[in-house]
Amino acid sequence: MIQLSKILKSVPIFHTLGKESIDFIIQRLKFKTFGPNETVCKIGDPGDEMYIIINGEVKICVYDEQGNETVVATLKAGEYFGEMALLTGEPRSASVITTKDSEMFALHKNDFDVILERFPSISISIGKIMSQRLRETLAKASHLPNVNKLETGQQGPRGSLKDVPLVDLIRFCEANSLTGTVKLDKNGEQGQLEFKAGQLQKVSLGNLTEDQALDTMISWTDGNFEIELKPIKLDGLVEDKTETKEQLKIRHILILINSLVVQKIIERALNGLGYKVFKARNISDGLDLMEKEDIHLIISDIKLPDGEAGALIEQIRKQNENPIIFLGEPNIKEEVLTPIKKSSGVKITNSHEVSEIVQLIEHFNQNG
Ligand code: CMP
Repeated sequence: MIQLSKILKSVPIFHTLGKESIDFIIQRLKFKTFGPNETVCKIGDPGDEMYIIINGEVKICVYDEQGNETVVATLKAGEYFGEMALLTGEPRSASVITTKDSEMFALHKNDFDVILERFPSISISIGKIMSQRLRETLAKASHLPNVNKLETGQQGPRGSLKDVPLVDLIRFCEANSLTGTVKLDKNGEQGQLEFKAGQLQKVSLGNLTEDQALDTMISWTDGNFEIELKPIKLDGLVEDKTETKEQLKIRHILILINSLVVQKIIERALNGLGYKVFKARNISDGLDLMEKEDIHLIISDIKLPDGEAGALIEQIRKQNENPIIFLGEPNIKEEVLTPIKKSSGVKITNSHEVSEIVQLIEHFNQNG
């Protein structure tokens, strides 16, 4: 068990999790071994497992109509695959084939769902990587005709409708569960198709009805297209942190914690999620900071050098109604707990785990 938790902790998406969380995940993993050249996932098949590579290597392959293989990526120890089918419910977007002897952990969809719900920080990181993968696969996909004529720019792939007709673009967006907009331009006439998780949501071209717009654009044999990808939302979370944090109420967080080490761990995790962090080690410095800076939430020790939770809540409430998260600790006296339980906008964690803190921040973001 100790060995397994070490391996799992070295996987980037699990970095921020504490021992208890890692143990929770380990109980749900199945250990599997593969020889070289074994197909772990087959493109088009339904998928109910994702895999974390412990050691070895896999290639991610897509195929054109003639069956020619394009390797869109190679993944090694610490990386994972197979998450897309679990998140989207769509068939496997690529084949995954081992290139060496490989050892992996497999995680079933049911357990994957439980883990994402319990540790939302993982879904943020998975969502971000999934969006990058889609971009890469889209750029390299060989089943689009004349794909070498596609250019991948800042906005996503673009090219000519002569090379890639709209019907193929639609098929491609559906097959890859794309969220984004296909923009078409024929001699200045501009239309667009919006997709959400591979489903066509809206078609527009001038004043035409959606049916007319689609019929017209499908018949275009020349003109240009551009695919603009949007970040994918996962259960209310957006994986692109720059956009997310602009939209969220809570963006600036004060960490009011006496231990510099705990301060640092939480600061690093929150910075990684795109929050701006301010730090203080006692109530008086914290209150000073709150007067000067635009702070939206406070994460605090229950006991600080110049006072306990009750005193802190009282002082803060004289200034603002910002949510406060206290870091729980064992054997807290009832008189210390009472003001925490009674005050509105105040929560306490069961542990010092970053995932639990993030969950509470998200709670305040959603519920105010
Ligand atoms: P899934 O669609 O379930 O099965 C195939 C997997 O290949 C997919 O999930 C991803 O995990 C992985 N994959 C697809 N495209 C890429 C890419 N461009 N880079 C890395 N992995 C990818």
